[in-house]
Amino acid sequence: MRMFRQIAGAVLAMASVVVLPALSATPAASDPDARAEQTLRKLRPAERTTLLHGLSAAWLPPPVPPGYVPGAGYVYGIPRLGVPPLIESDASLGVAWLGGRRGDKEPTTALPSGPSMASSWNPQLLQQGGAMIGTEAHAKGFNVLLAGGNNLLREPRNGRTFEYFSEDPLLSGTLAGAAVAGIQSAHVLSTVKHYALNDQETGRAFHDVLISEPAARESDLLSFQLAIERGQPGAVMCAYNRINGGFGCGNDWLLNQVLKRDWGYKGWVMSDWGAVHQLDFALAGLDQQSGQQIDPQVFFDKPLLDAAKNDAGYWARVDDMNRRVLRSIYAVGLDRHPPKLRKVDVKAHAAVAEQVALQGSVLLRNNGALLPLPGNLKRIAVIGGNADAGVMAGGGSSLVHGPDGPAALRTIGPEGPFSKMMNETYHDSSPIKALRARVPNTQLSFRSGRYLTDAVAAARQADVAVVFATQYMSEGYDVPDLSLPDGQDALIAAVAAANPRTVVVLQTGGPVRMPWLGSVGAVLQAWYPGARGAEAITALLFGDANPSGRLPITFPSSEAQLPRPALDGAETVEPGFVGRGRPGQTLTINYDIEGSDVGYRWYARQALQPLFALGFGLSYTRFDTNCSNPVATPTPQLTCSVRNMGDRAGAEVVQIYLTSMAGTATRRLAGYQRVMLAPGESRELRIELEPRVLAHWRDGQWQQPAGQYLLASGRSSLDLDPPLTLTLPARNWK
Ligand code: GLC
Repeated sequence: MRMFRQIAGAVLAMASVVVLPALSATPAASDPDARAEQTLRKLRPAERTTLLHGLSAAWLPPPVPPGYVPGAGYVYGIPRLGVPPLIESDASLGVAWLGGRRGDKEPTTALPSGPSMASSWNPQLLQQGGAMIGTEAHAKGFNVLLAGGNNLLREPRNGRTFEYFSEDPLLSGTLAGAAVAGIQSAHVLSTVKHYALNDQETGRAFHDVLISEPAARESDLLSFQLAIERGQPGAVMCAYNRINGGFGCGNDWLLNQVLKRDWGYKGWVMSDWGAVHQLDFALAGLDQQSGQQIDPQVFFDKPLLDAAKNDAGYWARVDDMNRRVLRSIYAVGLDRHPPKLRKVDVKAHAAVAEQVALQGSVLLRNNGALLPLPGNLKRIAVIGGNADAGVMAGGGSSLVHGPDGPAALRTIGPEGPFSKMMNETYHDSSPIKALRARVPNTQLSFRSGRYLTDAVAAARQADVAVVFATQYMSEGYDVPDLSLPDGQDALIAAVAAANPRTVVVLQTGGPVRMPWLGSVGAVLQAWYPGARGAEAITALLFGDANPSGRLPITFPSSEAQLPRPALDGAETVEPGFVGRGRPGQTLTINYDIEGSDVGYRWYARQALQPLFALGFGLSYTRFDTNCSNPVATPTPQLTCSVRNMGDRAGAEVVQIYLTSMAGTATRRLAGYQRVMLAPGESRELRIELEPRVLAHWRDGQWQQPAGQYLLASGRSSLDLDPPLTLTLPARNWK
């Protein structure tokens, strides 16, 4: 077979012009496939790899390439054919700061973290957020945002938890798709990443995830499938790690079989930076080598051309690789809508970030209705969390700061090129300033929290104590456990002992343990709340806005509840950015322990009681929800009426869980919808259910067994109404 391919390749290479199907005259701009085909046939031999490899572009030596902006990546275009270069920035939370290397003076707006965005359960809001950061990227000269971070929060200690959305595939995939659609509406191409099962940072460059196909299809892959269907990302970024032995960027199963054959994906697969280990990744489905300087070789240039001359398989791949990149360029309009350096509406953009923080903060406890705080308190003790300086940001490639950099920085990063992006930093949104502006006649006593006695004394003399607690997370590292670092648990306990009217505001990347929970009055989870985080937190604390966030991830009561209580590799892989480990080091992670029962599904299967359940969140008002009439066609759906029973406006998130599938107990989020209601207002919702959640993946297809399906509406994965029954026929589909 190989001989045949070599002969055929030789013949093809001799034909200076490959015979392609005749095309009509210039195809319509709306037909990216035809346009790609047309450009492909015009490529000269030397141009056949131009689009297939790119530079890591934080800094490039002069003379810099056309349109270059310091960022994550740069791929040369083909000006002769009107094909633009790809000018790539990170990432999901906004235009990355890059340690200030870009040097432009225009403000940059940081969205709140992924779990914050996800806590809104509001795809429309995420589309707005995506459009905002897409516009900022376009206005800074970029035409690609390496966004759409969509790995499932399978491992709550994952250092990149703050970049991703949820432990549930339906919630994660629908939200990621919305964010991608928003970005691309600004004619900036987005990715989804990191495909797939890159669910922890420890050993990410080499760890091998073991998982059965059904388990993968029903969890992490379903999340990517939904995101791709709904967002139509121009590219998919493959992951560093191995999956069932094969590296993510050279994994024929993931790339050729699942993504391109089964899902019919027409965009291109780009590598992560430094994730290409050999040329034949091209045959496994990789279309573009990113950050080529980091790899051992620029495989996707002369070595690829040479292989194509002698091998028909490589020749055909080179055509397909170009076709995919070109098609996405045309589909997103990068050629027709080139980036344009310009000012943006900073106020409007900040308002989007603030709206996400308002809808993405989760009220976890409110004992005795301590919140909302009255506006006439005499004294509030404000303690910890660098609350005088700003609100916490996550570290690594996705870090967003404006031209003046972070409002505060604590050095914890490693030495080397990444250190500036790895340090603990804070956005310039100060809680103390925001609180002072909200209650100018209240005395605010700020204490850093570094000395317990100092904080306790301030708390004792105050009407209310507000403790800001932080858990820093960053790309390249996982957190060793789910405790609050730097002695914050002891600080909170001491403050609460001195003043039971203590409010804890969490700014964490992911779930944390709360040994002090029973002794505090209220807990507001603000995650990393972004550019206007302090203003949003203040509005929620004083009731100017009603908390409406619902958790997108389960909070375990301890690590013992996790499928893998000990973090894989924690003992054997030296911590350090990108977790490269020692040469030849291996690490196997068995995701088949939980399989597709990630997060809340695992707790339900093991009958475990977590600290807080997926979907949980309190409000300053209360709702009454009644669902009925589940029907199977056109897509399974049911009707829910929701009423706001209280005296203030608020948003409810109606969640529909599958609790039994043809007689087998399960727990799966099958549909959801957020609704904003005025006091006393009621609304009828039709909530569509995702058919693939109502099915198993078996023998290469989705299989929906015939029988009775129990569907329960709920306020969380553990707080469910009596189930409704839907009878479904047996059905199989790809
Ligand atoms: C990184 C990250 C990826 C990012 C890329 C470019 O290592 O894994 O998310 O987009 O490099 O900075």
